[in-house]
Amino acid sequence: MREQLVQLEEQALSELEAAGDLKSLEQFRIKYLGKKGLLTGFMKKLGTLPPQERPEAGRLANSVKQRLTALFQEKRERLATQEESGERFVIDVTLPGRRPLRGHLHPLTQTLLGVCRIFKNMGFQVAKGPDVELDYYNFEALNIPKDHPARDMQDTFYISDNVVLRTHTSPIQIRVMERRRPPVAIIAPGKVYRRDSDVSHTPMFHQVEGLLVDRDVSFSDLKGTLISFVHQMFGPDTGVRFRPSFFPFTEPSAEVDIRCVICDGKGCRTCSQTGWLEILGAGMVDPEVFGFVDYDPEEFSGFAFGMGIERIAMLKFGIDDIQLFYKNDMRFLRQF
Ligand code: PHE
Repeated sequence: MREQLVQLEEQALSELEAAGDLKSLEQFRIKYLGKKGLLTGFMKKLGTLPPQERPEAGRLANSVKQRLTALFQEKRERLATQEESGERFVIDVTLPGRRPLRGHLHPLTQTLLGVCRIFKNMGFQVAKGPDVELDYYNFEALNIPKDHPARDMQDTFYISDNVVLRTHTSPIQIRVMERRRPPVAIIAPGKVYRRDSDVSHTPMFHQVEGLLVDRDVSFSDLKGTLISFVHQMFGPDTGVRFRPSFFPFTEPSAEVDIRCVICDGKGCRTCSQTGWLEILGAGMVDPEVFGFVDYDPEEFSGFAFGMGIERIAMLKFGIDDIQLFYKNDMRFLRQF
């Protein structure tokens, strides 16, 4: 008796669960709870039981009926509102799956890694230094005098009198040379900070520094290295030009331009009608700098260079606003 009832309830529950619309739900009601339904039929048979078993069986049957009725009503309400609002839980297993969104590296990271790979292939090792830097490494040991404009509060983020957010990756040159004897061939990627913000400046941006020191290193080694870099980065036919310049820590110094990648040298807004774009600063390490790290300038010579990654990425991808890199607008980022 009891087992029959338990079985009936189990069967009813699974059919109730399976009923997906009001029509099949109504069939369920007729089958179990209707006047000629299974549960009703069961209750009618109670009278045939021996008198002492009747009360117990009656209670059991009633509680099953109550539970099923409550669940049935709840489901009917739910299905009714769903069908009214046109919402349907139909799963079409033949539809093609939706591809999960795949992330990718930020265009700046891609550019940074690309630059590093080119120099690593030439034998340079990667070096790192701290973003929060001593004045000594950021300025003093790089032969940047106390009255140099770069030291001004207008341009540099000061943490205290002696501590700054590094304004370039050049302090890593000093930190590496302090620790090691020549030959040294390193590149140093990292964030740098300057108090500047417009379409071509952000207060934080990225640089890659390069330094090579050994016996008999000449300016033609610098030229060969950087021309090879430009050709790998921007294509083998890209024009390169070395223009005399000045940095306190290199002598002689140069700025390196490439033929404008937008107008191919004809003159446009990006290159200010000059046909050339500046991409990096470089030069032969100043003997004064060797003095700070105890390298003998009679014995060793070297070259150094530094480039802005945002600028390289803008030229490579044809982007005219540096701020786009930092807005995290998916419409922009998805294009890379
Ligand atoms: N540190 C210089 C800058 O930020 C670039 C540079 C690096 C120039 C190494 C010469 C040698 O402008």
